[in-house]
Amino acid sequence: MPKVEKIKVMPIFGTRPEAIKMAPVVHVLSADEHFEVIITVTAQHREMLDQFLRFFEMKPNYDLNIMREGQTLADITSRAVEGIDKVLQKEKPNLVLVQGDTTTAFVGALVAYYHKIPCGHIEAGLRTGDKFAPFPEEINRRLIGSIADLHFAPTKRAKANLMQENVGEEKIFVTGNTVVDALLWTLSRLPEPSSLDQSRRTILVTAHRRENWGEPMKQICRALRKIADNFPNTRIIFPMHKNPIVREVAFREMGNHQQIELCEPPDYFEFVRMMRDAYLIVTDSGGVQEEAPTLGKPVLVLREKTERPEAVEAGVVKVIGTDEERIVAEVSNLLTNELAYKSMQKPVNPYGDGKASLRIKQAILHHFGLAERPEDFVPKF
Ligand code: UD1
Ligand code: UDP
Repeated sequence: MPKVEKIKVMPIFGTRPEAIKMAPVVHVLSADEHFEVIITVTAQHREMLDQFLRFFEMKPNYDLNIMREGQTLADITSRAVEGIDKVLQKEKPNLVLVQGDTTTAFVGALVAYYHKIPCGHIEAGLRTGDKFAPFPEEINRRLIGSIADLHFAPTKRAKANLMQENVGEEKIFVTGNTVVDALLWTLSRLPEPSSLDQSRRTILVTAHRRENWGEPMKQICRALRKIADNFPNTRIIFPMHKNPIVREVAFREMGNHQQIELCEPPDYFEFVRMMRDAYLIVTDSGGVQEEAPTLGKPVLVLREKTERPEAVEAGVVKVIGTDEERIVAEVSNLLTNELAYKSMQKPVNPYGDGKASLRIKQAILHHFGLAERPEDFVPKF
């Protein structure tokens, strides 16, 4: 492997979940004298990215500011290609880091390849096997998988997925997911809840996926309204994604219900508090599926398929789709059937132990001939 004086690493990211999951890595690398860290953000998300740049105290060296209202996948791709190309041409880092499966992550890997710059993929190897679910993330991550030189797989299963696609085992490191690093860091700074009002249960809901735009989103909102009507002691909190397509349906279908609170997307501190204090979480988010098991919160997933089967197998996450009646039935069951609820309430952590970013640092040092290969993350139950 090439020996270098200081390893110039460029994390490239653009959306809320990437900022959260990249933050622990940025901090760990920045604190180590082997590295020079130069951050490039596409700002595929604007406000939701800025919120998390502030929260995690990350200062971008390059901000491509590409977001437009109603942007298409082609818009994001073309603007990101152009911007990242110029930055890589100028900075010529030794390594590009991308996270997950957004269009920013895909383009970051692609343009790194154009410049023959090695690429490390954080959260590598997640698959549903269905190229349209989630759309376009399943294809984004497969394409990144075929480009990347270092694959930071969160779990053993993610590693197996990569090996099935002929990625060499020596390039794969099972690190755990950096979201657990971010979550544990944030949790340790949260004050204990004073006292939770158990008579008024809170259901925390988020929904934003492209597959759920339109009719599925309508069914989700109608189901939530019914649940609120059927359970007067239940409160539903729905922090709305900034996307107008999501907000418009949420306002129209649930805007005037006393028990339903539609709010702006909170920062991570507040959102972690909401997850911790909720009775139940209902979501189509990828990251929330990974966080809730650490908090011991049951999750119902508003998707047909998940690329995160580990928590489903552990019995704490259930995939229920977006049919109105099914959502009402599944939520009602967990509100009334104590046994069913308790069976999903156990804290488990298949996704990480809070040390993923340290393993990633060691894997990068190993790649540059400066450290031993890190031990794989093994979940403890
Ligand atoms: C993107 C990612 C998705 C990820 C999600 C996390 C792609 C193709 N999709 O989807 O994988 O799960 O982020 O949230 O990469 N908007 C704002 N302000 C913001 C953020 C978004 O106004 O801070 C609005 C804009 O009108 C924008 C729209 O939301 O056009 C959609 O954003 P976009 O990044 O295209 O898609 P997401 O659904 O957020
Ligand atoms: N999140 C947040 N505020 C919110 C909704 C989500 O801080 O209002 C956090 C959540 O804890 C997780 C990440 O954002 O870490 C998930 O982002 P999102 O659901 O937008 O994307 P996905 O994970 O589905 O790609």
